[in-house]
Amino acid sequence: MCGIIGVVGSDETLATLLQGLERLEYRGYDSAGIALVRAGHTWRARTAEGTESVAALRLECKDAPQDYRSGIGHTRWATHGAPEAENAHPHLDCSGHVAIIHNGIIENHAQLREELSQRGHHFTSVTDTEVVAHLVEELRARGLDLLDAVRHALLRVRGAFAIAVMDASEPDVIVAARRISPLVVGTAPGVSYLASDVPAILDRATAFYAVNDDEVVRLGPEGFRAVDLEGAPVRLRQLQIDWDLETAEKGGFDDFMSKEIAEQPDAVFATLLDRQRGDGTIVFDELRISDQELREVRRVVLVACGTSLHAAQVAKYAIERWARLSVDVDIASEYRYRDPIVEIGTLVIGVSQSGETIDTIQATREAQRRGARVVAISNIVDSSLAREADAVIYTRAGLEVSVASTKAFVAQVAALELLALRLAQLRETLTTSEIEALLGGLHEISGQIATALSRRGDVDAVATQLLHAHDYFFIGRHVGFPTALEGALKLKEITYMHAEGYAAGELKHGPLALIEPGVIVVAVTTDANMHEKILSNVAEVKARGATVIAVAADDDEQIGAVADFVLRVPRTDPMFTPMIDIVPLQLLAYSLARGLGRNVDRPRNLAKTVTVE
Ligand code: M6R
Repeated sequence: MCGIIGVVGSDETLATLLQGLERLEYRGYDSAGIALVRAGHTWRARTAEGTESVAALRLECKDAPQDYRSGIGHTRWATHGAPEAENAHPHLDCSGHVAIIHNGIIENHAQLREELSQRGHHFTSVTDTEVVAHLVEELRARGLDLLDAVRHALLRVRGAFAIAVMDASEPDVIVAARRISPLVVGTAPGVSYLASDVPAILDRATAFYAVNDDEVVRLGPEGFRAVDLEGAPVRLRQLQIDWDLETAEKGGFDDFMSKEIAEQPDAVFATLLDRQRGDGTIVFDELRISDQELREVRRVVLVACGTSLHAAQVAKYAIERWARLSVDVDIASEYRYRDPIVEIGTLVIGVSQSGETIDTIQATREAQRRGARVVAISNIVDSSLAREADAVIYTRAGLEVSVASTKAFVAQVAALELLALRLAQLRETLTTSEIEALLGGLHEISGQIATALSRRGDVDAVATQLLHAHDYFFIGRHVGFPTALEGALKLKEITYMHAEGYAAGELKHGPLALIEPGVIVVAVTTDANMHEKILSNVAEVKARGATVIAVAADDDEQIGAVADFVLRVPRTDPMFTPMIDIVPLQLLAYSLARGLGRNVDRPRNLAKTVTVE
């Protein structure tokens, strides 16, 4: 999973590439590189400096020639081959004229490498990508122009790719193509661009277009034309982009993560805005699926990864309780390969902030192949998941840049719970007044998140006392369980400390053996219906020497007697608690990570959008 960018026909080629790569770093940052191309010559620079690779590339390019009008750039998240400079993109063919960047995985690379080596090609990296450079080299030698050479090369390739290829003997052309991995094209007068996503070229291009699977695009200064893999012309769909660059900047915060944590009240507010008609009917303007179809749903399956999976787990409780539908939650990467059963009336909901997570996309494709109707919950308008699904509900959290997802989670829970209420409305499993009361509570969440955020100082005070700790258990019951999972995920992602999320009732079936002095247990205790039970679990870990941090409702008078530290949050309906309880857990992870000197926006080994399986 990597970020790619390309520009052709620009007076600011180098600046465009470097700036774009800085914006694409969230996709990977093990190494970075660019190739500038002009007639008969390719200038290449590559660096492998871990999280500082793009910054190092900028330094490396200090003396780069300024008169190249075309080039490509790449920031890498290593899959095949260690994160070293030789494996950094762009890769070149034997002549050094063909340069290529790639996001994805060429699955049959070993067989192609073997064939190409036997025909005399010399490889300089151990990546899967380099085979494509040599395939294009052979096809060019047979007289094909760059578009046809890339097209024919891709016919030999299995796997996923967003790819861009240049050739110094056709220097005003970039050929780009996509299968599974994201790719957009941009245009401005006299210049064309490509990138993994829009923000990379947002302030350069004036129009943006989505490239679909198995489409190949030839970009030149005059614009672009697209064909399918057979060479038949195709039209790219223009994207509607409603963000400005400022939304992608930090807006005065130290980092994107703290900015995005602070934006959570707005994320929930915007996601819930205008979703109800005067008569109380819940509406999703973008949901292209009829009420009748929703009424006929017999079973719901949610597929997602990471934080989105935890939001999906919250939704299971809400849909089952309110709409009385049976719900399964599947880890997207497991769903596709376990021969899932899709009966008539199965609604599959793919939940993904980016809408580009390949595991989730593949899971929903599998579900569609087996006859399910698919609804996407996506934060990115026109994302791949949104485009492919039968229907979509957009969370309106705004652009999320930090690798650790925060505001997307609360927006996803809000959207999914609203959908659960819509299903209950259609199935008449709740009365009108019950739905009204719940909607009233849902609309208060934004303000309650703001209250939780205002107590940041309490969290920081706890964090300063815990900098020495190494082992954390996060426990909860009912929807407190996915909240605990999400709290543990945040902590491990950005502090690199060991943290496990557990259903509190399950502790006694094994993990209790690990509890001893020095272990920190973070207990989510806000669910009024489960309060006694969770207090018993807290007592069990206290008795074994754990230090307990409780997330507790403002009116909880018992918690002080059993917990070492209490982080207070406003009281709400139990089903809504994940959106509020997650706030002190995010802040705790953030505060500990800063205290430990971690790079919170760019944790090691991770990337924002995971476009490899
Ligand atoms: O874009 P998606 O919601 O599909 O991403 C899913 C996960 O990769 C993502 O939530 C990941 O777990 C985050 N780093 C969590 O903070």
